[in-house]
Amino acid sequence: MARVIANEKLAPGIYRLTAEGDYRAESGQFYMLRCWEAFPVLSRPISIHDIGPGTISFLYRVGGTGTRLLSELRPGDHLRLEGPFGQGFPKPEGRTAIVGGGMGVAPLLLAARRMQGAKVFLGFSGEPFGVSRFRGAHPDVTVVSGGTVADSVEPAVYDTIFACGPVPLMAQLARKAEGTGARLYVSVEKRMACGLGACNGCAVAGNGAYRKACVEGPVFSAGEVDFHDLLSL
Ligand code: FES
Repeated sequence: MARVIANEKLAPGIYRLTAEGDYRAESGQFYMLRCWEAFPVLSRPISIHDIGPGTISFLYRVGGTGTRLLSELRPGDHLRLEGPFGQGFPKPEGRTAIVGGGMGVAPLLLAARRMQGAKVFLGFSGEPFGVSRFRGAHPDVTVVSGGTVADSVEPAVYDTIFACGPVPLMAQLARKAEGTGARLYVSVEKRMACGLGACNGCAVAGNGAYRKACVEGPVFSAGEVDFHDLLSL
């Protein structure tokens, strides 16, 4: 069991939970969280927001019973963390951009912390949240408030782009990156159930196949993702 250090409300329905412990994981991976016994049956899969000395944190939006129960945790309470699971962001090569939109910034703080040479773009349709942590962890953070953050990113300038956010944002980046030589990797925010590859509930279509976001993702090469299919869900 991990002890809760903080569980801060950053915006309506959006929280940052920090727990105590030494954790090793790749940015883009996730943990299964639970702070209840029998119900809900399944733990909640939540991507790693950050790992610090003796701490791990998660940025999450309240969307159901499990995340509501997580939002009620107070410092000193305990929760169960299992993981890390899934495939995180690969090693960056060359000039690198990190692009997050809305809740898509959640898995990117650890990536930004570990990729000091990258350029970081964060986009929010409303009031930005969680930005000060990014600015504290990385020297080059651009925040776009309103509009589309993908408009600020010129893929031809980069060798590697890591992105997470709404499907239209990732689809726009994929279109812009086509033919530029930039390698685009996206972290797909797919609803998960078991989180362990057992239920097929997180299948992502692309390139003539279905891949499980929980074990083969949530980070995929953009070429492996059919964004039209994701949009239609
Ligand atoms: Fe069950 Fe991925 S969430 S297979």
